Amino acid sequence: MSSRASSPLQKHTVLGTYWMLSKRHPWMFSGVMLTMSLSEVFSIVIPLFYKHFINALVTGNASVHLLVVLILLAVACRAVGWALARVNGTFVALFEPRVVVEAEHLALRHLLDHSVRFFSDTFTGSLVKQVHRFSDGYKTIIENISWNILPILIDVICIVGVLFVRSLIIGAVALVWVVCFSIVNVYITRTKIELNRERARKGSETSGALADVLSNHLNVTLFHAKDRELNYVGRIHEEWRKICQKSWLYSVGGNALQNLLNLITELVVMIGAVFLWHNKQLTVGDFVLLQSYLLSLFSRLSNIGMVTRNCYEAVIDAQEMIDVLNASPDIADVPRAKALTVKKGGVEFREVSFQYHQRPILQNFSLTIAPGEKIALVGPSGAGKSTIVKLLLRLYNLTNGDILIDDQSIGQIKQDSLRDAIAFVPQEAVLFHRSLRENILYGRPDASEAQVVAAAKKAHCHDFIAALPDGYNTLVGERGIKLSGGERQRVAIARAILKNAPILVLDEATSSLDSESEALIQDALRELMQKRTSIVIAHRLSTIRQMDRIVVVEHGHVTDTGSHDELLKRTGKYQTLWGIQAGSFAAT
Ligand SMILES: Nc1ncnc2c1ncn2[C@@H]1O[C@H](COP(=O)(O)OP(=O)(O)OP(=O)(O)O)[C@@H](O)[C@H]1O
Ligand SMILES: [Mg+2]
Repeated sequence: MSSRASSPLQKHTVLGTYWMLSKRHPWMFSGVMLTMSLSEVFSIVIPLFYKHFINALVTGNASVHLLVVLILLAVACRAVGWALARVNGTFVALFEPRVVVEAEHLALRHLLDHSVRFFSDTFTGSLVKQVHRFSDGYKTIIENISWNILPILIDVICIVGVLFVRSLIIGAVALVWVVCFSIVNVYITRTKIELNRERARKGSETSGALADVLSNHLNVTLFHAKDRELNYVGRIHEEWRKICQKSWLYSVGGNALQNLLNLITELVVMIGAVFLWHNKQLTVGDFVLLQSYLLSLFSRLSNIGMVTRNCYEAVIDAQEMIDVLNASPDIADVPRAKALTVKKGGVEFREVSFQYHQRPILQNFSLTIAPGEKIALVGPSGAGKSTIVKLLLRLYNLTNGDILIDDQSIGQIKQDSLRDAIAFVPQEAVLFHRSLRENILYGRPDASEAQVVAAAKKAHCHDFIAALPDGYNTLVGERGIKLSGGERQRVAIARAILKNAPILVLDEATSSLDSESEALIQDALRELMQKRTSIVIAHRLSTIRQMDRIVVVEHGHVTDTGSHDELLKRTGKYQTLWGIQAGSFAAT
């Protein structure tokens, strides 16, 4: 089943998604929660033993045996609590990394379903950060629930319960304090949400800007623009700093208010306890119990502000990724789409209209390519040639019209089967930061070493690969940066040769090559084109003379079509372009 069909995420919330990920491992998840809860219960019981211990000491008639038993019980409880905490750590170690990996996989699987338009509108750097925030958010929440929220809940319920049993008044004061503290906490945290949301937005903007500047390092150097870029990033950083500062100051104020509440409670409870002791309603042991419970609650609850804020922040940080995941991919298969079957390889553009962000590029573009025909698309820069082939690959949806392959509309068939049927060498060949072998094998992962080498030879990249110290194992650098433009293109051509698809599309595929390599590749491509429908886009008109038909595209329309010789005879764009290029050949 395809990843699109198995999408488990439809309009999920952050917590809903985290819950969905957690419950895939019910035993480990329960183990984490249960061990922590029990460990907490054991630590709450300890002061009860010490209360009896102190009371026995104060009355003066306790047996040593009783005192030793009480100490042993307290120490045993502490030991069991610690042991449970270690078991909890083991469960967390087994559970958390597993879910974090699954969260990142989930994000990646959904991201890869998004269209070219989505990726051209979103910075890759900021997407990477969003994926990490999504998985880090899970860590923050699960750790805070297990190590803070759950113990706090158990502490509050048990301690307030014990205090009620000991003295209704003290129990009531403790309860009122917990309620006030929680209300203040919710209020502060809620107010901080907006600030933190803004902070996350600015944070993403900052990473996007950093990634943009770093990936344009060459441009920055060539245009001597370091200071300009530092200023540009500095301005975005400054906005981020201001929002962070505001958010921090708000936390400081909130913490101060909660500390004040704690002080007031300690004062009221301890003075109240003194009066109760005076009236013989409390023992000395009760004082020890009260003091230790109050301190434990204060230290636990002083954390809760930070804990809730951490959790809120994690949720807000993860929200950006959830929004991306919830957005349906703008290019999706229609229900029950069939796989494309290519028997002959005829292609028809039928009155195709297309616009990028409201900007019309193609209007009623029609072109029929016969099975096995080799056509060249030529025309001025920006005419829409690359767009035409991207539409054939359904990297974008059409605004109007239809594109058919062997009479099957590409909008009605499975996208994967469409792309399997087309070998495409793009204008900007981008490679994975993997070995050359893996990059070539990308065209057909099950190909043998001999087939890889044969394809590389046909694309005339075998010689330069073999001359590298690591040969086919050489890593090509991020996006293939360690290769020259021509080498990268030849590797992309080898990849297309290996793919051996019935339709071939080359977008300026030989533009970065010197004349000699280009001539060699032309031979290879001619051979490759023999058995298949081919669409070649080229600026260098000398390279396309052998095509069956040349189609001149201007402003998104076909303005002329014919063979090289026919077009040369007519006054038109082709003649002008040819005239300019022939002139430049003559001049060089
Ligand atoms: N992702 C995009 N978003 C918005 N506009 C785009 C996008 N890609 C291309 N365009 C615009 O669409 C128009 C056609 O672009 P296209 O790349 O198809 O031209 P082309 O004929 O291949 O040009 P060239 O010969 O320079 O490669 C151009 O004006 C370009 O600015
Ligand atoms: Mg182009």
